[in-house]
Amino acid sequence: MCGIVGYVGNQQALNIAVEALRRMEYRGYDSSGVAVAGAGTIAMAKRAGKLANLEDKITEVGADTLQGTTAIGHTRWATHGRPTDENAHPHMSFDGKVAIVHNGIIENFAPLRDKLERDGVELKSETDSEVAAHLLAQAYNEGDTQGDFRASALKVLNGLEGAFTLLFMHADHPDQIIAARRSTPLIVGVGEGEMFLGSDVAAFIEFTKQAVELGQDSVVSITADGYEIMNFDGSPAEGTEFTIDWDLEAAEKGGFDSFMMKEIHEQPAAVRDTLAGHWDGERVTLDENTISDTDLKSFNQVFVVACGSAYHSGLAAKYAIEHWVRIPVQIEVASEFRYRDPVLDERTLVLAISQSGETADTLEAVRHAKTQGAKVLAVCNTNGSQIPRESDAVIYTHAGPEIGVASTKAFLAQVAANYIVGLGLAQAKGTKYPDEIRAIWEELEWIPAKIEQVLQVREQIGQIAQTLGQVKTMLFLGRGVGFPIALEGALKLKELAYIHAEGFAAGELKHGPIALIEDDLPVVVIVPSPRGVSQLHSKIVSNIQEIRARGAKTIVIAEEGDTAVEPYSNWLIRIPQTPTIMQPLLATVPLQFLAADIALECGNEDIDKPRNLAKSVTVE
Ligand code: G6P
Repeated sequence: MCGIVGYVGNQQALNIAVEALRRMEYRGYDSSGVAVAGAGTIAMAKRAGKLANLEDKITEVGADTLQGTTAIGHTRWATHGRPTDENAHPHMSFDGKVAIVHNGIIENFAPLRDKLERDGVELKSETDSEVAAHLLAQAYNEGDTQGDFRASALKVLNGLEGAFTLLFMHADHPDQIIAARRSTPLIVGVGEGEMFLGSDVAAFIEFTKQAVELGQDSVVSITADGYEIMNFDGSPAEGTEFTIDWDLEAAEKGGFDSFMMKEIHEQPAAVRDTLAGHWDGERVTLDENTISDTDLKSFNQVFVVACGSAYHSGLAAKYAIEHWVRIPVQIEVASEFRYRDPVLDERTLVLAISQSGETADTLEAVRHAKTQGAKVLAVCNTNGSQIPRESDAVIYTHAGPEIGVASTKAFLAQVAANYIVGLGLAQAKGTKYPDEIRAIWEELEWIPAKIEQVLQVREQIGQIAQTLGQVKTMLFLGRGVGFPIALEGALKLKELAYIHAEGFAAGELKHGPIALIEDDLPVVVIVPSPRGVSQLHSKIVSNIQEIRARGAKTIVIAEEGDTAVEPYSNWLIRIPQTPTIMQPLLATVPLQFLAADIALECGNEDIDKPRNLAKSVTVE
């Protein structure tokens, strides 16, 4: 996820900005840059790649060309546009007077860009962000906001849609930064005779421990002497001052003990950002998709290829796509796909799902699919990586960088993206009416708020893990779309706690796995909504009774109001009511907590880096 820094003060701003960017590195990035305001001018340096590349660039242009006491800086995690020098931030306006850095997605950038081009402005990058710089210059140069930095900034901000943090710097106001946040993070740091801005406190923790939290939809203007917070309409607003009591390492993890815990808590945003921009009010839009509606209509089968958690997200997609689109969906672990000579043709859509976009097995599956004439659509979290580059089209998940090796937020974002693909197919093929698609979309839009609710089970899960102690083995059962959740829960536990765990389709229980059940064996059961296909619910209730009768201890995940499961649950974890097809987006979350907490009980402290695992597996 992009990192943003800002400084106005009494020292040379360049060094402070670069240092602050170094503190943002942990967020993951592919390019970086700084802009410094001097007397009446703004100078900028930016480069794709690591911070060392930016430092080389600064040496090339000479640090003396970047003198001044006000600076903004950025580490970029590419979303719109590849990770190149041009797409790196900051972006400057056509008149060289404005510099901006941006985190988030400006959803209406396309019409804004068109309008700027009609006005004769030449855009230099492929980003959604650059428009903000030109719009500010236009607002400052003409009309009723002419010469007024603050009014111009407010005018621009009110014309933007989406989620964003933006920092504006103007050459005519070299002692001031105006910044705004809408749904993405921004914190103010308060020093003596100097003020800071950061995506999080890690940006400035080495300079000051005093900070100000801004409300949603806030604008802030900082100078060396202080800050002024306002709403988007310019009316005064308040922030909340606080003292940072974390050290730097804790700050990078947002106060959580591990990146994984932080990433679990980022899941509402990961799903929300992945959905953003794919609904235009009437229709699902696959805007990054270069597969035409005619192609979408022509597909008569889908193959999903992926590995690990991405594979489980694909398994959930199978249930959704077959249900919505009425075409067969086959799913294959990517490493097996090409060796069994799958039957593919030009009417086959291959959905290749990968967080990293670099997994060798998935990449080879993509290559094989293409040689067979199939069309490949990638679902990927890493802009510009190999799998989207070699695919015909891509839907990006916007989970931000995932540092914990075991996937959490990327998994949920993949499920959301896969469902977008499913709805896009149903729409093109007309297998769902527009009002049905709208109803499903509205349910999806509720999911981030519901995940927020599920995050509240943290404490309950901690207690369950403590009671269980050092378990040796654990089983996970699910039916329908609960089956991939069971597999994902078991995988998380294997990865983090190094204990034997297996996920089963609950109906298979009697065909073998039931022999494993013995006294006190913990079994997690994912229960579908009782409001859905009723046999599914009653069948799993029978399954819970069967395992309880044989001595298992049941950890039951069921939706609020489902009383039928109460008598058979040793522990009952509640999730908000949701259509069963959406359950993977909710029921997975307690299982992530459970795996992390059992890992700690088993003495595995470093859940971010489980033994033997790699985040990105680039060998077959
Ligand atoms: C590795 C990771 C898993 C991940 C899998 C697929 O095994 O440890 O967490 O699910 O690769 O990765 P991808 O980047 O292709 O989604």
